[in-house]
Amino acid sequence: MIAVDATTHDIPPTTGKLHGLLVEFDTVDVLKVAARRVRDAGYSRWDVHSPFPVHGMDAAMGVRHTRLPWLVFGLGVVGAIVGLTMQWWMNATDPGEFTFVPNFLRGYDYRISGKPLYSLPAFIPVVFEVTVLLAAVGAVVGMLAMNNLPQWYNALFTSRRFQRVTSDRFFICIEAADTKFDEDATREFLAGLGGTHLERIVEPPNRGRPALLGMMALIVCCLALLPPVLVYKANVSKSSKPRYHLIQDMDNQGRFKSQQAHPLFADGRAMRPMVEGTVARGDEWTLGTDPHFYEGKVGDDWATTFPERIEVNEQLMLRGQERFGVYCAVCHGLDGGGNGIVAKRVRENSKASSGWAPPSSLYGDAVVERPVGHLYNTINVGIRTMPAYGDQIPPADRWAIVAYVRALQRSQNATIEDVPEDKRSQLR
Ligand code: HEC
Repeated sequence: MIAVDATTHDIPPTTGKLHGLLVEFDTVDVLKVAARRVRDAGYSRWDVHSPFPVHGMDAAMGVRHTRLPWLVFGLGVVGAIVGLTMQWWMNATDPGEFTFVPNFLRGYDYRISGKPLYSLPAFIPVVFEVTVLLAAVGAVVGMLAMNNLPQWYNALFTSRRFQRVTSDRFFICIEAADTKFDEDATREFLAGLGGTHLERIVEPPNRGRPALLGMMALIVCCLALLPPVLVYKANVSKSSKPRYHLIQDMDNQGRFKSQQAHPLFADGRAMRPMVEGTVARGDEWTLGTDPHFYEGKVGDDWATTFPERIEVNEQLMLRGQERFGVYCAVCHGLDGGGNGIVAKRVRENSKASSGWAPPSSLYGDAVVERPVGHLYNTINVGIRTMPAYGDQIPPADRWAIVAYVRALQRSQNATIEDVPEDKRSQLR
């Protein structure tokens, strides 16, 4: 027997518009049969409520498989395309070609270590990240949207009987929004399903967005403005104090600065003079005892001979040839003509070659006339646009390279007299 009950509402059912009709069941078996009948009757906006999962209920209700995976997949594909296009745009497009795009949005055309501008292997990490990002956002937002969430309330919660859905009662609710819904016909249909109780559920008045929520949203928005305001303030204001240094590491340590006054010592100087009789530490170069060997200088002039401790022999020459191949050939070329791989690549790339000083030919007149001390100095400290190699090449090796450069120069400016007599016949 079924009773239509209006007294179990918190709010009298006469107010507000109809949400749906709710039937209560005692047992799972009746519920399942009833669910099948609702499904067969062709209703679409209805649901079953039970305190625990019921086996076979999905089939009984005719619940179809969720379409969420398709959304996730689609957004993943979009993410991959966006990631790839973004990197192609930023890395591999010629900024000069896209003059209609504002400057700050154009790509760079920036070649790093001669790698290709468009390089799939290098792009994969970012493509992967963007794919996962969009797919994950799609999964969460899609799940919420497909379930009509978030909802501030559900009209079912106004029913006191419905509260037993969490312990020992089962319910079916057909919503008034269903296209097949007709209050009288649906009520009659539901009454015949074997339920114990039928109830009219009405939308409660004014159960919209909780009042506090708007307030909280406003507060959060205001707080979110704080960081940019602080950043802006830091940008425009001046202060004599150092910036905030949250993690100190070893950056700030107690120490004296040179020339600083400090009461710790009787004479008030933080910087202490050398103790009398201190012996200098370091190599001869720092001590300046052999400028010929270390600086290529004799007095104020460039040395014209090799220093005493360098013996010019075949071994030195071979060492010089090997070191030259390591350090100099990339620019000057293996033959010293100024045609190394770097120079070649620059010439091929017309953009890079403007304003570029080519490596000198080492057997041009100007260089041939340089004293050995000058060549040594060029290796040690660099010259004009050529960088210094003193940090990489120890002094003895510098001299070995100088000897080899001299040999190169002779080989390029050679006459028949330079060839040993017994080898001359082999020349063509
Ligand atoms: C990164 C490229 C590069 C490398 C490596 C390099 N050079 Fe140079 N070198 C240059 C360039 C460029 C010039 C011309 C500089 C200028 O005119 O501004 C030059 C000029 C010279 C000159 C002529 C200096 C003069 O007196 O006018 C000598 C000699 C020389 N290099 C020797 C060497 C030796 C020896 C090595 C190996 C230790 C070496 N370079 C390595 C780029 C290089």
